[in-house]
Amino acid sequence: MTQQSRSSVRTVIVPAAGMGTRFLPATKTVPKELLPVVDTPGIELIAEEAAQAGAEKLAVITAPNKQEIMEYFQSFPGLEKTLEERGRFEQLHKVRHAAELIHPVAIEQDQPLGLGHAVSLAEQALAEDEEFFGVMLPDDLVLPSGVMERMSQVRARYGGSVLCAFEVPEDEVSNYGVFDVYDPEPGDPEDVRRVKGMVEKPEPAEAPSNFVATGRYLLDREVFTALRKITPGKGGELQLTDAIELLIQEGHPVHIVIHRGKRHDLGNPGGYIPACVDFGLSHPVYGPLLRRTLSRILAEHESDTA
Ligand code: UTP
Repeated sequence: MTQQSRSSVRTVIVPAAGMGTRFLPATKTVPKELLPVVDTPGIELIAEEAAQAGAEKLAVITAPNKQEIMEYFQSFPGLEKTLEERGRFEQLHKVRHAAELIHPVAIEQDQPLGLGHAVSLAEQALAEDEEFFGVMLPDDLVLPSGVMERMSQVRARYGGSVLCAFEVPEDEVSNYGVFDVYDPEPGDPEDVRRVKGMVEKPEPAEAPSNFVATGRYLLDREVFTALRKITPGKGGELQLTDAIELLIQEGHPVHIVIHRGKRHDLGNPGGYIPACVDFGLSHPVYGPLLRRTLSRILAEHESDTA
C-alpha cells in the first residue's frame, strides 16, 4: 500500500435522514438528496466527490421513508436493456454511473435525532483499523472538488480531525457556525489553522473570525466516544459540533482547511436555484441557451419593476 492510499479516506458517511422541511412540499414524496442539479441528483454528486477522494465505501444514513436514495444506486436491468437496444449509449452510461462509483451501504436512522446521532450510527460501518473517516453533507456542494484530499494531507501532518472552512465577508458570518482559531505557527501552511472552538451564528461584532463551517469533515474515530458523552442540545438533537467541541476541550487536535472556491446549499430553494443556474450555465448542451434565456428573464423583470 502506498503512503497516499494509507492517508486517504476509506469510508465517507453521508447523513441523509433529515426531514427536508425547507423543501416541502416536494419532500413529501421526493427525498431532497434526489432533487436534480440539471440532471444529476445531489447524492450522485457527493458519491462522485467521495470516490475522487479515494473512498471505497459510502455509508448513507437514511430514514425509513427515504428508501429511494439507496434504490438510486442499484442497477436497472429493464431500463438498461431498452437503452442498449435503442443505441442510447450516453443515457446508458448515465444510468450505470452511480452504481459504478462507490460501494454504498445503508444505515437506517429511525428518527431524525440530529446530525450527531446520524453520524454515531455509522460506527458499525467502519473497519476495526479505520482510524478516521469522512462526513459529507449532501446538501452542501463544495467546488472545485478536492478539498477532502487536502484535508487528508492535513490530518497526515497534524493528526486529529480536520474540517473544511470558507472565508466569508464580515456581514455574512451570522448565517453560519464560525471558527475561533489560533494564529498560524511559523511554517504552517497558509490554508490551515488550529481550532479553539466554534460560535453558532454570532453577531458580526462578536464573530471570532471570518472562517465558517461547511459540510465536509474528516473525523478521528475518537469522535464516537465524544458522541456517547454529549447530551442533546438545540431542538433535542445530538449536535455533531458539540462532540467536536468536546474533542477540542480534551486536547484533541482539530484543524480547518480554508477552501478557496465556491459552495452551494442545496438544502433550501434559495440555494438550490442558484446551483442549478450555475451548473446549467456550465453545461455544454444547455449553457448557451440558458444564458440567453436568463438575460431575457432578467430584462423582463427589470422592465416590470421600472
Ligand atoms: P439539515 O438540518 O440541513 O437537514 O441537516 P434537514 O433536517 O433535512 O433540513 P430541514 O431543516 O428540515 O429543511 C444536515 C444534514 O444532516 C442530515 C440531513 O439529511 C442533512 O443532510 N440529518 C439531519 C440526518 O441525517 N439526521 C438527522 O437527524 C438530522
